[in-house]
Amino acid sequence: MKIRKAVFPAAGFGTRFLPATKAIPKEMLPLIDKPLIQYSVEEAKMSGLEDVIIVTGMGKTAIEDHFDVSFELEILLKEKNKADILRMVEEVSNLIHFSYTRQKKPLGLGHAIHCAKNLVGIEPFAVFLSDDVIDAKTPVMKQMLKAFEQYPSTILAVQRVPMKEVHHYGIIEAKKIGLRFHKVIDMVEKPLPKDAPSNLAIIGRYILMPEIFGILEETKPGKGGEIQLTDGLRLLSKRQPIYAYEFEGDRYDAGDKLGFLKANVCFALKNPNIKKEFGKFLKGLKF
Ligand code: G1P
Repeated sequence: MKIRKAVFPAAGFGTRFLPATKAIPKEMLPLIDKPLIQYSVEEAKMSGLEDVIIVTGMGKTAIEDHFDVSFELEILLKEKNKADILRMVEEVSNLIHFSYTRQKKPLGLGHAIHCAKNLVGIEPFAVFLSDDVIDAKTPVMKQMLKAFEQYPSTILAVQRVPMKEVHHYGIIEAKKIGLRFHKVIDMVEKPLPKDAPSNLAIIGRYILMPEIFGILEETKPGKGGEIQLTDGLRLLSKRQPIYAYEFEGDRYDAGDKLGFLKANVCFALKNPNIKKEFGKFLKGLKF
């Protein structure tokens, strides 16, 4: 069973980043010189996926424009003999095949995934939440696709988080079955620390079986009155095995101000063009 398609829910309002995200999609905030969503689209490509399906919503047209050809810009760069920049701009629009669909109402992550039902069809697919930027030697989705060869079933990327942070995540109850693998027994969306079954948090990379679509149609609104993917997965886990995979890599929650800053600093310190000067600047700071 080859996984070809990747769904990118990108319809959220980006409330954690207001007012910056009032007119700009949060997915378009730059990490150094590329918008956040481009990092996960590149991860999809590097992992061998072929089709990217972006679920957009109101005010998100900048995402489509970013991955489209920019005819005027390309002509201008050609006329000015800026071959390097032209190549970079062309690479973005040639990255991968894109399709778009819209989530008409902000009814939650589970509902956003369901919007991609007709574009995905009846095959397993990948999901990327582009807020979760993961710096990894082997792209995390590539690690997950390898895990899928071993466990051809729904797989959730997980990471241990401090107990006081569990209320930001979907948290699993699981039985360890290998060095990085767990069999999921149950899960809960954003529990209080006292109610959390573990500190294993779901991070924004999933491989989902197509049966999730039917299940999401039955899933009742949960936390925040939204149709939660975690609640849908919980129902799915009663009918099919679900596994969790502890990935290798450094993950930043770039949908949050502090996480976004941390990601920018860490990526800047790895960027050959700016790391020296930026490192010097950081060392010279007094606080
Ligand atoms: C979503 C999911 C949550 C998951 C998280 C990972 O929450 O609902 O289960 O742990 O992504 O980033 P959000 O961050 O969109 O509130």
